[in-house]
Amino acid sequence: MTSVGLDTGALNCLGRSVLCWLATADAEGRPNVSPKEVFCAASPSEIRIANIASPRSRANITANPNVCLSAVDVFEQRGFKITAHAHVVSASAPEFECLVKPLAEMAGPGFPIRDVFVLKPLRVSPIIAPSWRLFPDRTPAERRDATLAAYGVREDDRSLRNIRAKPRHERHSDDP
Ligand SMILES: Cc1cc2nc3c(=O)[nH]c(=O)nc-3n(C[C@H](O)[C@H](O)[C@H](O)COP(=O)(O)O)c2cc1C
Repeated sequence: MTSVGLDTGALNCLGRSVLCWLATADAEGRPNVSPKEVFCAASPSEIRIANIASPRSRANITANPNVCLSAVDVFEQRGFKITAHAHVVSASAPEFECLVKPLAEMAGPGFPIRDVFVLKPLRVSPIIAPSWRLFPDRTPAERRDATLAAYGVREDDRSLRNIRAKPRHERHSDDP
């Protein structure tokens, strides 16, 4: 299967999502899924994830390149599911230093990165919450307000939407 490029919607969603979920499988197809916070779309055809503490994901990718990543913007109530081929670039590889750079900036010095998982997207599909179908006439602002109310998020907490603009190590518990 040939690699596909992420469109602007998917790129923006990945940029805004605080977490993504990476599903992998071992050589026998046994599944595994775990969250990752330090990730980025380096280009429309390449997603990078920091392996900080993900031994099972690493072993699975090494045995089986087929992965699926999902990310949602909880405030917009939608996101993307991306099936991809992945490979592991370990710290000893010559390209590691270049690949890890944006991830290391996000993670900060307190979170050493062991490897980079490089994902080449094969298929991209939208994920939307049922509310999009149930209440199609809601405006984006109404949709956001409904989500904030449902999750009990205060008005001031809207700046959470921009949390990924800050490197992880610069975020503080008293940040809004
Ligand atoms: C909020 C959150 C963010 C995380 N971000 C990362 C990450 O960016 N990279 C990483 O390797 N592990 C990250 N982890 C830790 C892994 O998800 C965790 O160690 C998990 O057990 C790894 O499982 P695996 O080996 O099956 O992938 C994160 C965990 C949480 C709860």
